[in-house]
Amino acid sequence: MGSGSLTTDLLNRPLKEVRVSVTDRCNLRCFFCMPPDSEIEFLDRKELLSYEEITRTVRILSQLGVRKVRITGGEPLLRNHLENLVSMLSSLEGIEDIALTTNGYNLSKKAKVLKESGLKRITVSLLTLDPNKYRRMVGRSAQLEKVLKGIDIALREGFSPVKVNAVIVKGVNDDEILDLAEFCREKGLILRFIEYMDVGTLNRWSFEKVVTAEEILEKMAEVYRFKPLERKSSETALKFRYEDMDLEFGIVASVTKPFCRGCTRLRLSADGRLFTCLFSDKGYDLKRLLRSGAEDREILSFVRKIWSWREDRYSERRFELIKERKVEMFRVGG
Ligand code: GTP
Ligand code: 5AD
Ligand code: SF4
Ligand code: SF4
Repeated sequence: MGSGSLTTDLLNRPLKEVRVSVTDRCNLRCFFCMPPDSEIEFLDRKELLSYEEITRTVRILSQLGVRKVRITGGEPLLRNHLENLVSMLSSLEGIEDIALTTNGYNLSKKAKVLKESGLKRITVSLLTLDPNKYRRMVGRSAQLEKVLKGIDIALREGFSPVKVNAVIVKGVNDDEILDLAEFCREKGLILRFIEYMDVGTLNRWSFEKVVTAEEILEKMAEVYRFKPLERKSSETALKFRYEDMDLEFGIVASVTKPFCRGCTRLRLSADGRLFTCLFSDKGYDLKRLLRSGAEDREILSFVRKIWSWREDRYSERRFELIKERKVEMFRVGG
C-alpha cells in the first residue's frame, strides 16, 4: 500500500478504530462526567472540525488500518444534521463499521434518519430505570422516559444490535444491576456494565465508588446462568452468554481487569486533537495541519509518527500513575 502501509505502536498494537467526538457539549450533567457544580468552558463553533474535515481525517486514517468509527461526544446528537456525517463516512472505502454512542435523549427523533444514512450500531447510556434516580444522576429536569422511547425506536428501526452502557457506581445504582439486566433481556438489548473510571479530574473519583466486575458477576449469578465468551484482544468488554436465551452481556472492567494490551483505539476530539489514550493529558493538534493546507501524505505521516511512538497503558498502571492532568471524557468521547 506504499505510503499508506499499516503501522503499530511501541507495544505492537495496530491502529484499527477511531472514536470521533463531534461536540464537547451535552444536554445532561452526569455526576461522573460533567458534575453540575463544575465550571466548564465549551468550544466555540469555529473550533469544531467540520464534517468535511472529519471525513477527510477518517479517510486518511483508513489508509493506516482504521476500519471502525465510533461517533461520540459530549452528546453527538446535539450536533446539527449528524446524519450528514454518517453518510459521508459510509461512503468511505475501507470503513466497515460505523457506530454511535449517545445518551439516548434525542434518539427517538433521529433514529430513522441515522439508519437511512448508513449507521450500523447504536449504544445508549442507561443508568437506572427509576426516573427520580435518573434525575439525581444526570442532573437538571431530565426525563428518563425519553431515553426509553429512544431505545424502543432504535429497535424498531432495526438497529442490530442496540447496546446499553450502564456505569455502575457504589451506593448509587448498584441496587439495579439485576433490574437493568432483566430490562435488557426482555428487549433483546446487549447490556454493558461499566466499572466507574477515573477519567478526567472533575468527578472526584475514588476506588471505593467502583463496583468491580467480580461484584457485578456475583450479583448476576444470583439469578442468571451464563458462560464466559472468548473476547477478541481489541475488545473492551468481558463477555458472557446467558444459558437460557440467545443473548450476551458484558462488563467493561477497565479498573480491575484492564485491557490496554489490545487497545487499538485512537480518539479525535471535536476541536481536532488526536488522543492516544482516554487518560491522556494532551492531544496532538491535527486541526492546525488540516487548516494549513497540508496534503494527505503529510497528515498521514503525522498520524503514523504519533501512533508509532505510542506507549499508553494507563489502566494497567493506574495505581502507580496518579495523574493530576487528564482530559475530560466529554472532550474525547467514551
Ligand atoms: P463495540 O466493540 O464497538 O461494540 O463497543 P462496546 O459496546 O463493546 O464498547 P465501547 O467500545 O463502546 O466501550 C464501552 C465503554 O467502555 C465506553 O463507553 C467507555 O466507557 C469504555 N471504554 C471504551 N474504550 C475504552 C478504552 O480504550 N479505555 C478505557 N479505559 N475504557 C474504554
Ligand atoms: N466512568 C465510566 N464510564 C463513564 N462514562 C462517562 N463517564 C464515565 C466514568 N467516569 C460512560 C457514559 C457512557 C460512556 C460513553 O461512558 O455513561 O455510557
Ligand atoms: Fe453527557 Fe455522556 Fe457525559 Fe453524561 S456521560 S454528561 S450523557 S457526555
Ligand atoms: Fe487504551 Fe488508554 Fe484505555 Fe488502556 S487506558 S485501554 S491504553 S485508552
